[in-house]
Amino acid sequence: MIDLPPPTAAEVATLVSTTCRSCHVAGGVAPFAFDTLGDLRRRSGVVEAVLAEHLMPPRLAHERDTISGVRALSEAERQSLLGWLQLAEPTSDGTPVQEAVDPLATLGEPDVVLRAEAAWSLPREGEDRTHCFRFPLPKTMTGIRAWHLDPGPGRAAVHHAGFLVDEEGVLRLWDDGDPAPGWSGHAAIGFREAGHVGVWGAAQGYERLANGFARPVPSGAELVVALHAVPTGKPEPLQPTLKLWSSPPEAQPVTGVLIGSLCLDLPPNKVSVVEDEWMVPVDVSLLSVAPRAWRICRKVEVSILNWKDEVRKVLSINEWDSHWRRAFAFKEPIAVEAGQRIRVRFTYDNTESHPRQPEVPPRRFVVGHGETYEEALLMLTLAPKEAADLTLLREAHDDLVLQRGDEYRDWWANTASLRGLERQERQER
Ligand code: HEC
Repeated sequence: MIDLPPPTAAEVATLVSTTCRSCHVAGGVAPFAFDTLGDLRRRSGVVEAVLAEHLMPPRLAHERDTISGVRALSEAERQSLLGWLQLAEPTSDGTPVQEAVDPLATLGEPDVVLRAEAAWSLPREGEDRTHCFRFPLPKTMTGIRAWHLDPGPGRAAVHHAGFLVDEEGVLRLWDDGDPAPGWSGHAAIGFREAGHVGVWGAAQGYERLANGFARPVPSGAELVVALHAVPTGKPEPLQPTLKLWSSPPEAQPVTGVLIGSLCLDLPPNKVSVVEDEWMVPVDVSLLSVAPRAWRICRKVEVSILNWKDEVRKVLSINEWDSHWRRAFAFKEPIAVEAGQRIRVRFTYDNTESHPRQPEVPPRRFVVGHGETYEEALLMLTLAPKEAADLTLLREAHDDLVLQRGDEYRDWWANTASLRGLERQERQER
């Protein structure tokens, strides 16, 4: 217990501005705004509870100094907020909480603002949906250096979103085949992940690449935004607005490489570790890593290993929560030399002591569909040191995905034969 005098209203307002306001702002991802200290005091019960339980700000990565956008509360700051809540007087209610620093502000106005022409309404109940919207890009745009997505009035229903670059306008056919604005269903089939523009999650509504880098887009391409939404009990209108900042032609191109495993079989009442390693074929700068895992994942670790097997940890999450999914961008891109390896390690806690265990008693989790679905994937965003190596990296990515595709098929074949065996055994009994 740290014993400090309670902070002044101005100090609290600054703390709330730097650690809460990026989400707790009108139109932000959180359900209510902290515009003044009164907004905090009037909710003091629940605010105290989330602070005491370390639930807010959401626990993201532990590398606070090297990863951008991760602003945690130090223990002293947490105690000081709790202390203030206990003593807070209505007289400080009017103290304004300053706007959080907008990470995109220094880029100026966006080059393009695209808005879906009409809203699509997520039904009140039923299964999760992936709903896609198509945005033709201006022909003059050659690369994207930053984007900001607002899914529209029903944003609280959106769990995450992904982007795809459609080079040939093929997805237009899907849109034309569905009378509603946009279309429901997946968009990824047949598209290279290299055409991805990033992920959006409750913890992150934007992406800004390090200066000098860009995600290339072919002239005349369309951008497809796939919103994954969860029914909330009332209709939720989705009408995304996308702001884009284009890159100068000399920007260094980045690409995505997906590593991880689709060979998951996580038995109940066990802690399992799933690991994958990829040897980087050429010198690259690693800009960000975006883990993909769901319900029973507990820990995610990303490391870089050199030829002596020396390990440099670059991301560690000790309490993974897929709700806070995001791309973790390094403040300074990390140089990884050809021959070094990038390793990802996921720990799945499929026991009853996992606080977010959705299945009691625990059940087997596998890759597939439905409630017991898990994943162990990591999207790397990297830029080759030599622009000519871009093709090589894209091919390396395609090879990895093909290989995973085989794992996936093997997995299906194995589970199918396992089920067959179980059936036989039952019949024999
Ligand atoms: C990264 C975005 C983000 C940050 C930063 C953040 N919050 Fe939240 N907060 C949310 C979201 C989203 C919710 C809605 C609940 C959920 O999605 O888990 C929420 C919910 C809450 C709730 C309601 C919890 C409940 O059970 O009803 C409180 C209270 C809260 N936040 C306080 C804070 C405080 C205090 C801070 C800063 C110290 C903070 N939050 C920082 C995103 C954030």
